[in-house]
Amino acid sequence: MAEQCGALMADLILGQVLTFTGDPFSQGLSAARHISDGAVLVVDGKIAALGTATALRAAHPTAKVTDYGRALISAGFIDAHVHYPQTAIIASWGKRLIDWLNAYTFPEEMRFADPAYARSVADRYCGLTLAHGTTSFCTYATIHPASVDAIFEAAQTRGQRIWAGKTCMDRNAPEGLRDTAQSAYDDSQRLLEKWHGVDRLSYVITPRFSPTSTPEQLAAMGALWAEHPDCLMQTHLSEQTDEIAWVKSLFPAARDYLDTYEAFGLLGKGGLYGHAIHLTEREKARLAEVDASLIHCPTSNTFIGSGLFDMGGLKAAGHRIGLATDTGGASSFSMLRTMAAAYEVAQLRGQALHPAQLWWLATVGSARALHADAKIGNI
Ligand code: GUN
Ligand code: ZN
Repeated sequence: MAEQCGALMADLILGQVLTFTGDPFSQGLSAARHISDGAVLVVDGKIAALGTATALRAAHPTAKVTDYGRALISAGFIDAHVHYPQTAIIASWGKRLIDWLNAYTFPEEMRFADPAYARSVADRYCGLTLAHGTTSFCTYATIHPASVDAIFEAAQTRGQRIWAGKTCMDRNAPEGLRDTAQSAYDDSQRLLEKWHGVDRLSYVITPRFSPTSTPEQLAAMGALWAEHPDCLMQTHLSEQTDEIAWVKSLFPAARDYLDTYEAFGLLGKGGLYGHAIHLTEREKARLAEVDASLIHCPTSNTFIGSGLFDMGGLKAAGHRIGLATDTGGASSFSMLRTMAAAYEVAQLRGQALHPAQLWWLATVGSARALHADAKIGNI
């Protein structure tokens, strides 16, 4: 029986505990705290203490003990950028970004017009994340509102903390996968009011990227964000050089890719910019100035041939950075594999990331990028 302090139930979980007292990039590797014979005390479902097994056993002699031996006890992984509707097409062969979207992604996302299909993939995706130790994620749905309901319902059933939003696109996407500036605004607002702040669920305003939104739609998304500043906003930025050239041709007056967001109120703290590989000096400076979040997607960036994210340079410049698979551009659902890819990508830029830094990115780093580090990401 678990120890009862008044009505409180106490559980003692034993194993190797990994936790962070700070950011190992800026504060050194000693910011990673490893307790070899460790223990975590959980009282009424909440973490109450951590320390050595000996000390916590002595202090809580009647707590219910579960001994995981040499297993590692850590905060769950947080995947800061995914497209759950792309679960079935992960690791699709042989294309670069724009062709990959047209050949594989858009046809698959069309299938989400059927709410039953959306529910089956949402269930499968949540099961996959938990099997990989990913307790939280931030996802794009498709343009179909029911695809947002499906993922929130699947995560709610499992107690996962997630962010999700209706992907908005009103151009350069096939018939059946386009909304309008007005319907994107109306549907997003309705979903936001329905789900934002319910249990562990948060709505995230989601214009896919500049090439698939007209200036009118970007302005509508910017207006919605201004009306709901407590929501995050997610999009893609400077993933491939061909994409950047396309953005330049679609927005000839823009100073750069970031400016196509900035001009419509889509740059700010609480903005999540996926990939962010080929940034200009102005873009880097503006992103740092507003304290926006950059999301590194290393298995996707290598699989789709996008490029090498500058972790060392961007971290040193103080950027807020999260780690993500980018399912289904990714080649794996696993954040462990994603950490390995982040290591390999950094090596190709002459930077060596320590395992403590990689683990921090997949937990605290992603939590900070999602402005949720007061609640998740660390023990
Ligand atoms: N840019 C716009 N949409 C997408 C997407 O679905 N995946 C990736 N990797 N990049 C994108
Ligand atoms: Zn993406």
